[in-house]
Amino acid sequence: MDKFLIRGGKALRGTVAISGAKNSALPAMAAALLTAEKVAVHNIPKVRDLITMGKLLTFMDAKVTVTEMPASDYVIEAPALNHAEAPYELVKTMRASILTLGPLMARLGVARVSLPGGCAIGARPVDLHLSALEKMGAEIAMSHGYIEAKVPGNGAKGGRLKGAHIVFEKITVTGTENILMAATLADGETVLENCAREPEVTDLIVMLRKMGAEIAGDGTATLRIRGVRELHGTEHSVIPDRIETGTFLVAGAITGGDLTITNCQPEHQAAVIAKLQQTGASIITVDQTTLRVRGGGKLVAADMTTEEYPGFATDMQAQYMALATQVEGTSLITETIFENRFMHASEMIRMGANISVEGRRAVVHGPAVLSGSTVQASDLRASAGLVLAGLVASGETVIDRVYHIDRGYEGIVEKLRAAGADIERVHGTVL
Ligand code: UD1
Repeated sequence: MDKFLIRGGKALRGTVAISGAKNSALPAMAAALLTAEKVAVHNIPKVRDLITMGKLLTFMDAKVTVTEMPASDYVIEAPALNHAEAPYELVKTMRASILTLGPLMARLGVARVSLPGGCAIGARPVDLHLSALEKMGAEIAMSHGYIEAKVPGNGAKGGRLKGAHIVFEKITVTGTENILMAATLADGETVLENCAREPEVTDLIVMLRKMGAEIAGDGTATLRIRGVRELHGTEHSVIPDRIETGTFLVAGAITGGDLTITNCQPEHQAAVIAKLQQTGASIITVDQTTLRVRGGGKLVAADMTTEEYPGFATDMQAQYMALATQVEGTSLITETIFENRFMHASEMIRMGANISVEGRRAVVHGPAVLSGSTVQASDLRASAGLVLAGLVASGETVIDRVYHIDRGYEGIVEKLRAAGADIERVHGTVL
């Protein structure tokens, strides 16, 4: 297993270009299942989750064409989907495989998708996806660890989903995306209430509309979808990754550096920018796609609570915790989205951080002198938090299990090195 080796203490300087958003690219690729025509998706980040999504679509008999591997441009054609199944082997490595359920049900009226199973950051059920599909006429059974869904009424093939009025009990990002995609081809109108308003949901709406979908309510909690007979091919470029952007904003602030972050979308960063400015970091919007962060001055504690968009993203919580270990004063970090998302705290404590965790709250006393240690990445964003801690720790930090970070950060080692960080990937051997 690969590891990262970081020798901390270098201020990051220079320019870093942000890749496409993993969480936009995943639903965009799944959306290609909604049509028999050719769909080209651009600005795909070169990360493992997208390779997994490509494999998943191929498994279903979609033709997935790339000119290099990993690729940032994908062409997907799904004239016939002979295998409406997401197998456990792929789903277990990527929970977002569930995003194929909505498109398969819309297009074929039948699907078999493995249950995602345990997840490091909490139970993460998919009950809201399933109850919404049931409201749209699907019959759902669990068998051998798989979700078996079918719309009755067309023999062995499935029937057509029906429009419905659905109020999500809880705000769910992939749940909103799944049901949105399902509704595009349903009979009649679907109204979705209490929807996620994340920019990735809006990006999916933009793409679906280009495919001929009739959707109103972008960026609000209520979406109205009028089902159409069929969707057609399109070309779409996904939005920049706001979590990668936020991670580099923290990297600039925590190392006392001066980083220019290009190819990003500053308006998606409002909550992170406001919070970092509260700690004393200097962040300016250079232009519509560029931000500049400067650390160096005194940073002070600021409490932070994760929230759904437009609030502070849970996917930035571990990175913010790394920063909180370095500021003057006590920061209270409250995680409201996932019940078990502080696994990085114990690793940061091993590096010398002063953090106490109680339930969904973490209290971080700073500044702490971090010392390089061997730590384990437990999930994608926790790994990013540990990398940031390693950048300011004295001596050498070894981060184990970096396959987590490879799921979602394109070329993080190369990007950090280009900005002056002393970080390298060490290819591990299994004994
Ligand atoms: C998505 C993001 C992930 C991010 C998360 C929250 C993708 C591919 N992943 O994950 O990076 O951390 O949003 O911003 O876009 N819930 C239920 N029942 C359900 C669905 C969700 O109880 O059927 C709960 C979850 O356990 C969690 C909360 O709702 O507590 C939010 O989860 P959700 O928004 O669904 O997260 P994902 O879509 O899986």
